[in-house]
Amino acid sequence: MNSAKLKIDDKEFELPVIEGSEGEKAIDISRLRNDTGYITSDTGYKSTGSTRSAITFLDGENGILRYRGYPIEQLAEKSTFLEVAYLLIYGELPTSKELEDFTSGISRHTLIHEDMKKFYEGYPAKAHPMGILASMISALSTFYPDAQKADLTPDEVDVTVKRLIAKSATIAAWSFKKSQGHPIMYPQNRLSYCANFLHMMFALPTEEYEVNETVEKALDTLLILHADHEQNCSASTVRMAGSSHASLYAAISSGVCALWGPLHGGANQEVIEMLEQIRQNGGDVKKMVEKAKDKKSGFRLMGFGHRVYKNFDPRAKIIKKACDDVLEEFGIDDPLLDIAKSLEEVAVSDDYFLERKLYPNVDFYSGILYRAIGIPTEMFTVMFALGRLPGWIAQWKEMRDNNEPISRPRQLYVGHTERDYVSLDKR
Ligand code: CMC
Repeated sequence: MNSAKLKIDDKEFELPVIEGSEGEKAIDISRLRNDTGYITSDTGYKSTGSTRSAITFLDGENGILRYRGYPIEQLAEKSTFLEVAYLLIYGELPTSKELEDFTSGISRHTLIHEDMKKFYEGYPAKAHPMGILASMISALSTFYPDAQKADLTPDEVDVTVKRLIAKSATIAAWSFKKSQGHPIMYPQNRLSYCANFLHMMFALPTEEYEVNETVEKALDTLLILHADHEQNCSASTVRMAGSSHASLYAAISSGVCALWGPLHGGANQEVIEMLEQIRQNGGDVKKMVEKAKDKKSGFRLMGFGHRVYKNFDPRAKIIKKACDDVLEEFGIDDPLLDIAKSLEEVAVSDDYFLERKLYPNVDFYSGILYRAIGIPTEMFTVMFALGRLPGWIAQWKEMRDNNEPISRPRQLYVGHTERDYVSLDKR
């Protein structure tokens, strides 16, 4: 029986040590406050496991990422986004019948209520598509109020899952149409998930639009790579919001908002803006690296560093290769790719980055690939959200299936001690 000993003053407490299926160890402190009166302090949860999860395994020291045990490299090469979505949500790879039912179920839910179309009229033309995505997903809960029930049956959960995956793509593509001032394109259920999304994004009523297979495949791979990443900021947000028994729509909408920030999914947009700035300033990557090292500048190299990966991000490796392939096939010469490669070269051999184990993360090259397949910069984080959706759903479902209690961290209060109110005329 493994345990850890904690000594506070002259008293000793025994804390159970639990072990994960990959040999990771954790000290179970769930009874700590009851037994000792103490809490632990760990701002940013750098050493805190918030749950026990069977969805994704991540070994940051060795650059390993597996969904339900399957290596990301194999899934990216051999699987499809909807198959991976099924795997994450239901725990096993689907049989062909299960995959067919899941895929056709999603196709049947791609339309959004015609009344929701009117919401688009109210958003300003420059509305960020992440703001639209979060608010429209939250609004879905008003059209499906039954999803709020505490005792949802598995079938009721399944239909919400399908609605979310199907409708989010429509909502996202329509937010792009809104920004362009173009008419929306209705979903085409005969097309694959990615082909339908590309059609809704880029087709116009005035001309024929054929979905390019390379683009469709590249998009599918990108979505697979983003599909889950264990207890990151947005997944934890989804679990936390869901732990109050808010509906799946509400929990996912919270996750979209959490993903939006530049330190999380919003980094992919920031990377391109940073590379563009370097290009406009004559391509001096060394200057940018020096700026990132200077704490006073408040600037960070976007697309570099990760809370968990301290060696390399396996997703970045796959994206870099996909990026080279797509650019070569389309004969695109993107100057930002050359800048990105020189920036990586300078940064990864710099002592500051080496000492802190800062390597390119998934967002470093994903933007260049999105650009190559025609996705506009403002939509990058939305693409990340579409990819992450199955992961968020799986995290929410696992939390519910395990009957986890409401998430409610404690704090160390460091404010004023009690003091008397002072009336306005005496201040
Ligand atoms: N550029 C320059 N310095 C950095 C960077 C960076 N991108 N990232 C971390 N550092 C430094 C940081 O200043 C600190 O230095 P010191 O020890 O001297 O104080 C040290 O490295 C450790 O950083 P941290 O902020 O304590 O690490 P964290 O685990 O809290 O943050 C991170 C992880 C991803 C937020 C951070 O690396 C970062 O801000 N990166 C840039 C934004 C980015 O690319 N985000 C996308 C993450 S991957 C997609 C996703 O899953 O969301």
